[in-house]
Formats: sequence, C-alpha cells, structure tokens
Amino acid sequence: MSRLQGKYALITGGTSGIGLETARQFIAEGATVAITGRSQRALDAAGQALAGNALLLLSDAGDIPQQRALAQQLEQRWPRLDVLYVNAGDVTHRPLQEWDEQSYQRLMDINLKGPFFLIQALLPLLANPSSVILCGSVSAHIGLPQSSAYAASKAGLLSLARTLSGELHARGIRVNGLSPGPTETPALGKLGLAEADERALRDDIRALVPIGRMGSALELAKAAVFLAADESAFMVGAELQMDGGVGNL
Ligand SMILES: NC(=O)c1ccc[n+]([C@@H]2O[C@H](COP(=O)([O-])OP(=O)(O)OC[C@H]3O[C@@H](n4cnc5c(N)ncnc54)[C@H](OP(=O)(O)O)[C@@H]3O)[C@@H](O)[C@H]2O)c1
Repeated sequence: MSRLQGKYALITGGTSGIGLETARQFIAEGATVAITGRSQRALDAAGQALAGNALLLLSDAGDIPQQRALAQQLEQRWPRLDVLYVNAGDVTHRPLQEWDEQSYQRLMDINLKGPFFLIQALLPLLANPSSVILCGSVSAHIGLPQSSAYAASKAGLLSLARTLSGELHARGIRVNGLSPGPTETPALGKLGLAEADERALRDDIRALVPIGRMGSALELAKAAVFLAADESAFMVGAELQMDGGVGNL
C-alpha cells in the first residue's frame, strides 16, 4: 500500500463519487492529497470522510481566476506537485434544442477551459516526473442521445492528453485520459430528476453496458492509482477506458 509514497496529489472535484474514492485510495497508497470542491459544506463532509487526511481547497473548476488562485495556494504549501487528477465535471445531459448559450458555456468552462488553465497555472509546480490524469468519458466515443455538449467537452479534454503530452513530455510531465463508462456515483442524483425518472434512466444506462452492470467508484479509483504511480511511466498521451465494454464491444 505504498505505490504513491512521497507523492503530492491534487484531485479536482474530490467531494463526491469517483473523486472522493480516488482521494481515499491515493491516501491509502501513501500520497499527500488535496481535493477541491465548490462548496465549503461538501468539502467539510469530504474532509471528515477522509478522516482529516486531505487538504481541502475551495475552488470552482469553471472559474479561471480561481484556477490560478488554486495553483498559488498549492505553491505556498507544497514543494512540488507529482499528480494532478482533473476529475470535476459538469454531467448535464439534455436534448439539443434545450441547450442555451449560457449553460453550454458553463459546461465547457468546467469541463475543458478551467482544466486547460489549471494545468497552465500548475506548470511551475509540476515535478519531473509527474502524471496528469484527465477524466474523460466513454461518451466521447459513442453517439449517446442528449450527451452532445458533454461528450464534446470530454473529447476536447482527451485531445489535450495527447497534445499536452507532446508538448510537455520533455519536462517529465505525462498526460493521460481516464474514461469511465456508466459508474455508480451520486452524479445521477444531481440531474434534478424525479425518483421514478432517475430509476428509469439508471436502468437505461445499465442496459448500455455489455457486461450488464455499472462500474464502481472504487474500480475507477484503482485505475487512477495506476495512472498516478510510476508503474504507468510508459503510458503517455493515451486513454484508459474503464467502461464495461461500452466503447469497444
Ligand atoms: N458517473 C459516471 O457514470 C461517469 C461516466 C463517465 C465520466 N464520468 C466523469 O467522472 C467525473 C466524476 O464524476 P462522478 O460520477 O464521480 O460525479 P459526482 O459524484 O457528481 O462528483 C463530481 C465531483 O465534481 C465536483 N464538481 C462539479 N462541478 C464542479 C465545479 N464547477 N467546481 C468544483 N467541483 C465541481 C462535484 O462537486 P459537488 O459535490 O459540489 O457537485 C463532485 O465533487 C466527472 O468528470 C464525470 O464527467 C462519470
């Protein structure tokens, strides 16, 4: 349980679901962990769930000045950053005709623009070697109805794994995508659906998965440990799909 011993790791959106479980696994593997969240209440609850073992940083992933402030806060506290996991995401799904410019912009700010400028702001702190993990989605590879804006944002993020690896590998920074398929997390509950509609959506989603079940946050967290650890040092500019076969079968 020391695959991340001595590493400093930042996880965005660490108050819930995959991010919170990843924080738990990173800490168990010996990392010093910071998580971000957009509400102090959620951050405090996550801090308790992690038994006080994580640095809690309030930061809205879609706000660019806040990304720069986040990098500054870390620079003041930590000597370097070995792992960045860009996990926070806006998972809004809706039919094309229901999107307006404001909600489209907000989703893109959180899922793509914010991460771009966070990585830029963290460049001076990123160690040699270091691992940047970008949370994609299998949705970037399939044509799931209502996923248009979301899937486009994730496709953009996965593209960054390649281009930024090309640009940064000489500095020892490798960037990879980690793409979940349907995974049991509180995310579905945040879509504002009635209970019966949420249950029906969950059934529809499960039916998409060739192996007949959703993934768990723990399965995704274990994959993130692999990408964060030196054991994946030869994986650069790539994507790890943890999706029960949705993208390939
Ligand atoms: N679950 C799936 O089936 C699935 C599939 C493919 C990809 N993914 C991706 O996996 C990642 C994690 O999702 P999840 O399923 O674990 O969802 P989740 O349980 O809702 O967790 C998302 C986390 O991101 C945070 N977050 C959202 N917007 C934020 C913002 N503007 N600033 C800061 N933090 C923000 C959330 O905070 P709050 O608690 O305040 O909401 C929460 O901590 C996302 O990028 C998602 O797109 C999930």
